[in-house]
Amino acid sequence: MKLLVCGGAGFIGSTFTRLRLKDHGDEVTVLDKLTYAGREENFHDIAEKPGFRFIRGAVEDREAVTAALDAASPEAIVNFAAETHVDRSIAEPDAFVTTHALGTYVLLEAAREHGVRYLQVSTDEVYGSIDAGTFTEESALRPSSPYSATKTGADLLVQSYFHTYGLPAVICRGSNNYGPYQYPEKLIPLMILNALHGDSLPVYGDGMQVRNWIHSTDFSRAIGHVLEHGTPGEVYNAGGPDEEANIAVVRRIIELAGARDSQIEHVTDRPGHDRRYSLSSEKVRALGWAPQVRFEDGLAQTVEWYRENAWWWEPIRSGDYRTYYERQYGRSLQP
Ligand code: NAD
Ligand code: TYD
Repeated sequence: MKLLVCGGAGFIGSTFTRLRLKDHGDEVTVLDKLTYAGREENFHDIAEKPGFRFIRGAVEDREAVTAALDAASPEAIVNFAAETHVDRSIAEPDAFVTTHALGTYVLLEAAREHGVRYLQVSTDEVYGSIDAGTFTEESALRPSSPYSATKTGADLLVQSYFHTYGLPAVICRGSNNYGPYQYPEKLIPLMILNALHGDSLPVYGDGMQVRNWIHSTDFSRAIGHVLEHGTPGEVYNAGGPDEEANIAVVRRIIELAGARDSQIEHVTDRPGHDRRYSLSSEKVRALGWAPQVRFEDGLAQTVEWYRENAWWWEPIRSGDYRTYYERQYGRSLQP
């Protein structure tokens, strides 16, 4: 297939791009704005591969999107482009509204004009929090944060283009991803790097919030399945095999990284913090997908990846991230 992958320089987008180039022989053009979270380093092992092309540009920029479509002549657009950190959406929601609402709109218009299939990468956070039981694709949408609210708006826009214009569009909603190349503002890479550096491990509130963890290669395979076998107009959830409380995740990381329990620090809770996410993946399993990576194994591999790939995270940890960290946590990182 020929694909235009928007937001492909980020964590999951680059994992998906790698998978499609290597395992499926696809031609992939990435369109990415390269925000703080998007990095050309994420293409270090695929940049020279035949079939790979990178274009820097924003999804809300019509000219950039048209140029990318002309260069790629894709059969499908896969949209990962997003601002993705809940804490940043609470501090500064602007870019979330622009990228998710306007960006998705510009891509949908372009897909319609060029007669191209469309896949929107979405999140379980659109359903809000669930104390018991599991969200299905039929569950009500009750987003809590500016991040999840703007992602929900994007999903609704995608569905409106299917209903109104017949655009062959599908949505794939993932649970919390982890794995190599994840920017260290998110729970797992933040805790791994802090554990390895002897920094404190900032657990929000009581740490009993539960997340459903999926490895980024499993989510990328689910997106590929939905792209190839999904029915236009439908939504498909893709959750991981394991749910775990944050504090238990942090304890596992302490053990794997050889850190100390005394590094744990319970800090002020996130405003509007969702207590639990849980996702039923029956519908995408019926398409032949199943997660392959158990959390226990994937987490151990992820800790090893961060241990062995300081070249990837050192420039982040010594750059603007330090300012972000100080603003968010009110303390500095170890040099
Ligand atoms: P990420 O923050 O690592 O990467 C986002 C990418 O989008 C970056 O490369 C960034 O430069 C790019 N981008 C941002 N704004 C852009 C714009 N206006 N135009 C073009 N490019 C832009 O995020 P991620 O974790 O890889 O998430 C990718 C997608 O998956 C997002 O849509 C996110 O909502 C969804 N998702 C993420 C998770 C998770 O746990 N990380 C779970 C479910 C769904
Ligand atoms: P995060 O990785 O930001 O993903 P999301 O908010 O999309 O689920 O956070 C995962 C969980 O970890 C969430 O319950 C918030 C919590 N958390 C902490 O306790 N401390 C931290 O420093 C971070 C970044 C997150």
